Amino acid sequence: MDLTELRGKFIAAVAGAPDEAALEEVRLSALGKKGEISALMATLGKMDPDARKAAGAALNVVKDEIDAALRAKKAGLADAALNERLKSEWLDVTLPGRPRPRGTIHPVSQVMEELTAIFADMGFSVAEGPQVESDWYNFDALNIPPEHPARQEHDTFFMHRDAEDPRPPHVLRTHTSPVQIRAMTEQGAPIRVIAPGRVYRMDMDQTHTPMFHQVEGLAIDRDISMANLKWTLEEFCRAFFEVDKVELRFRASHFPFTEPSAEVDIRYSNVGGQLRIGEGDKWMEILGSGMVHPKVLAAAGVDPNEWQGFAFGMGIDRIAMLKYGIPDLRAFFEGDLRWLRHYGFAALDMPDLPGGLSR
Ligand code: PHE
Repeated sequence: MDLTELRGKFIAAVAGAPDEAALEEVRLSALGKKGEISALMATLGKMDPDARKAAGAALNVVKDEIDAALRAKKAGLADAALNERLKSEWLDVTLPGRPRPRGTIHPVSQVMEELTAIFADMGFSVAEGPQVESDWYNFDALNIPPEHPARQEHDTFFMHRDAEDPRPPHVLRTHTSPVQIRAMTEQGAPIRVIAPGRVYRMDMDQTHTPMFHQVEGLAIDRDISMANLKWTLEEFCRAFFEVDKVELRFRASHFPFTEPSAEVDIRYSNVGGQLRIGEGDKWMEILGSGMVHPKVLAAAGVDPNEWQGFAFGMGIDRIAMLKYGIPDLRAFFEGDLRWLRHYGFAALDMPDLPGGLSR
C-alpha cells in the first residue's frame, strides 16, 4: 500500500471540500467505519508482530494528519459561514437615534376634565362603575326586564358564558346609566353625581363607533324637578361651549328608566366641514334625560315616596366634535399622531373654570 499517495489524496479532498456536507463525505470515505484508512487498520491483525508495529505506527500518523486537516477545514468553513452572516446582518451604530413619538392629551380626555370641572362647580362629584357589567345593573335595575324591546335596541356585546351555565351573561355596558344604580346603592339620597366613561354598542358608521363615551348625570333630592334639569343642562352648555348663546331643544321621548323623558338637541352649523355651535339650522342630539323612574329609585334602595330627581346621559364624543370642530368621529379612535398633534392638548393645561377651560 502506498500511504503517501493515500495521504495526498485525502488531504487534497479535504482542501477542496466546498462546504460542511462535502467535508463530512470525505471524512466518512477516509475514517468512517467503511473508510479506506479503517479498512487498512483492519488488515493489521493478519500481520506478524514486527510488521504490524511498523505499519500500525505509519498508519496512525496518516490517520492523525487527515483528522487534523478535517478539523482545521471544518473550523474554516464555520468561520466563513459566520462572516457571510455578519455581512448581511450588520448594524450601523453611528446612525442618529429616532426620537420617541410624543403624544398629547386626547380631546375626549380633555372634554372629560372640562365637564368634570363644570359639574364639580355645581356640586356634582364623580362616580364610577365597571365596563363589564351584569345584565341586572345594565338592564333590570333600570326597569328594562329581559323581554323588553329596549334590550334589542341597545345592540349589546355579550361576554362568553358556557352553554350549561344558567346565569345570564355579563355585557359590555351599553350606557353609563348602571352607575346611577351603583352610586345610589352606595351613597343613598340625597345625591349629585356624574359618571363619565366608556360604553359599547355594535354600531359603526360616520357618527357611530362600537366604543364611545358618555357622561351620566344624576341629581336626587326631595324636590328636584324638570326645571332643575333644564337649568343645569343650559348652564352646563354655556360654560362648556364658552359661548353666550347656546340653543337647546327639548323633545319628548321615552326611556324605561325615566318618566317623563326628553331628548335634547343643540343648534349648530356645518360650513365646509367647520362645525359651529349656537348658529345655523342643524340640530345634533347630544343627550337623553328625564325624571328618574320610581322603580329605578326602589331598585337602588332609595324610597321613591321621599326622593325624586333627574338623570341624563350625554354623548361625550359628540360634544367634543362640536366644541373643537372635529368633523369625523372615527378619527377619535384611529390613534393617528398627526391628528392628535392637531386636535390634542398640552398635558399641563388642566382645565378649570377661573383659568378658562380650553386654553
Ligand atoms: N342611557 C340613555 C342612553 O344611553 C341616556 C339616558 C340617561 C336617558 C339617563 C335618560 C336618563 O341612551
